[in-house]
Amino acid sequence: MRYTPISQLKGNMILGQELYDATGRMLLAKHTTLTEENIAYITFLGIPGVYIDDKFSEEAKVEEIIRPEVKKAALRMISEVFIQASQDDTIEQEAEAEFRRNITMIVETVLDKRDVMDSLIAVKTYDDSTFFHSANVAVMAGIIGAKMRLSRIELDDLVTAGFLHDIGKVFIDPDIINAPRKLTDEERVQMMDHPMLGYDFLLEEYSFSKGVLEGVYQHHEWYNGDGYPRRLRGDSITLLARILKVADVYDAMTGKRSYHDPYLPSDVLEYIMGRSGMEFDPDVVQVMATEMCVYPVGCEVGLSDGRRGIIVENHRGFIMRPTIKLLDTDELLDLANDRDAWNLTITRLLI
Ligand SMILES: [Fe+2]
Repeated sequence: MRYTPISQLKGNMILGQELYDATGRMLLAKHTTLTEENIAYITFLGIPGVYIDDKFSEEAKVEEIIRPEVKKAALRMISEVFIQASQDDTIEQEAEAEFRRNITMIVETVLDKRDVMDSLIAVKTYDDSTFFHSANVAVMAGIIGAKMRLSRIELDDLVTAGFLHDIGKVFIDPDIINAPRKLTDEERVQMMDHPMLGYDFLLEEYSFSKGVLEGVYQHHEWYNGDGYPRRLRGDSITLLARILKVADVYDAMTGKRSYHDPYLPSDVLEYIMGRSGMEFDPDVVQVMATEMCVYPVGCEVGLSDGRRGIIVENHRGFIMRPTIKLLDTDELLDLANDRDAWNLTITRLLI
């Protein structure tokens, strides 16, 4: 299985994973042979790429980190909470209990996968609506938190806060939220209210713990004190909020936004590493930079000597040095261990 960008999809390629829409409905089944019509539909939906099965990438096994049914339940749940918030409905106890059951399911999944090196792309769903963004941040934060050995209670709080971190945006003018341009100073000030609006809403309507509430309130604080709304710094920002901050920025930058094209995961990781200690907590960045794969198995990359290949294996702690199968010779090149390859670098991720 290998990740293939939309621009390189052709008829007769075989889909390696199921595709889902924003409500969790299956669009295309695994092993579907793609037609030109399917490809046009996938393009229309704004999906940047899909996994395909082919002979060449047989040994590139891609593990589904979060099972489709868990993703589906999570998406259903988050859309319900957002709708309830925007319609000013009272939250039923039943819905809150369902929400908590889903959180438990996700936390169990991330705990289960704690020792697997997760691929940054596999964690992410393809769509970049607020619901998907919330689900991505929740799962990504949960994975980082599990790797940092947070307690079960902290993980529950972290994943919950991940889902709800932007709920305050429901109370902000949609024209500002969706503006395909730079915001004016006045609009930016309004936008900066969303952590507090979310905090107030959750405090009033739900019975979430202080950990969840502070996570939502603090997810735009910077490690050096330059963030908002309260300009907290260092350890005075809760660990959960410091994890959410990294997961939120990572997902926002790798996603398609109205005002920019998605950035490559490797570029975003470098951006985050470059702002470690300023915007981001160095301990959180360290976990992301050693435990998550920048170059997911199955992706095509270009090397500094001009050759191209497909990632077949990642090595823990050496996230920039995976094993690659070269396209021209089928030869395996282990950038972490083959002496001959030590002078080579990956210069492009072809997605
Ligand atoms: Fe936010």
